[in-house]
Amino acid sequence: MKPTVLLTGATGYIASHTWLALQGAGFDVVGVDDFSNSSPEVLNRLRELSDREPVFERANVCDEAAMEGLFRRHPIAAVVHFAAFKAVGESTTRPLAYYANNIGGLLGVCGAMQRHGVKRFVFSSSATVYGQPERLPLREDAPLSATNPYGQTKLMGEQILRDLGAADSVATEGGARGAAWQTACLRYFNPVGAHASGRIGEDPRGVPNNLMPYVAQVAVGRLARLSVYGRDYPTPDGTGVRDYIHVVDLAEGHAAALRRLFEQAGSVTVNLGTGRSYSVLDVVAAYAKASGREIAYEVKPRRPGDIAACWADPTLARELLGWSSKLDLARMCEDSWRWQSMNPKGFDA
Ligand SMILES: NC(=O)c1ccc[n+]([C@@H]2O[C@H](COP(=O)([O-])OP(=O)(O)OC[C@H]3O[C@@H](n4cnc5c(N)ncnc54)[C@H](O)[C@@H]3O)[C@@H](O)[C@H]2O)c1
Repeated sequence: MKPTVLLTGATGYIASHTWLALQGAGFDVVGVDDFSNSSPEVLNRLRELSDREPVFERANVCDEAAMEGLFRRHPIAAVVHFAAFKAVGESTTRPLAYYANNIGGLLGVCGAMQRHGVKRFVFSSSATVYGQPERLPLREDAPLSATNPYGQTKLMGEQILRDLGAADSVATEGGARGAAWQTACLRYFNPVGAHASGRIGEDPRGVPNNLMPYVAQVAVGRLARLSVYGRDYPTPDGTGVRDYIHVVDLAEGHAAALRRLFEQAGSVTVNLGTGRSYSVLDVVAAYAKASGREIAYEVKPRRPGDIAACWADPTLARELLGWSSKLDLARMCEDSWRWQSMNPKGFDA
């Protein structure tokens, strides 16, 4: 029998790609989302791509009764928890909303798991937990810090999961005895790109916060030009450097993490990145090539809080999960462009 996995934030950008990867890896998926940052149209696209009826419930993961109902109705064996707010800038102006949703959601889901004796949990963490990197590439044992409320919610999330694991080694907190919590904290670098079909992809509401969706909207003519913040960083071309990872590679990383939790005891914390780094202008050039469009940009002063460079050491993920990224920057841009040009206004056009 296939194990059933609960996917929270299921119609979001990364989760929708992970839904397909998990089905491909032999899991049954139950999705939950409140559509606070995604569209129900995603479910139609998933139906089409997987040739299966998506099993889905609309609910807020902070709603304890709703979570309880999900665990009663479905034979859930593990959870992959994506549901969260993710805009760093917005988190500084709406900290209470971020703590309530990101921490409240984690507690809501883990509480239901504890009551039902389900203890395999994959958590969407982020490279933001490394704060201002002291040394590159970033290894998982690098110092952790947060410079904004969003980052704090990821740091706290990881801590809550460590505490759950530690509690199991002494006594269980009200839940089924026996099984120990097994968690995978996956620290994503910069997810970009889209499914090769062009049917699902990133559909930000309002003006995009991240580089590639912004570049995509310039290419398709929705935005006039890109602002490049800072050309005086200590990087090869002076613009910020990041580790971009194809969302399909990232999705496969979740399948690998779940397999590990089903096959071996213990918990893992790993980077999901490529180990390669590209500047803003590298991305602009690669996107122009993929789209055949010119990407207009203007250089502006650095933004406070931005770091010069950040990329992963992906060795541990390879060792512990047998996973490494496969798709290069050209492919990230080609797939992003296919999605953007086939859906110029996103899912709800
Ligand atoms: N995209 C990135 O650059 C990035 C990087 C590192 C980590 N992450 C993390 O990965 C996860 C997914 O990110 P994404 O880029 O796919 O974002 P997304 O906004 O596309 O997906 C999140 C989904 O969760 C849903 N959601 C939010 N709060 C909810 C709640 N209380 N109940 C039910 N559903 C809720 C939203 O409607 C959305 O569909 C998030 O936890 C995010 O913090 C993202």
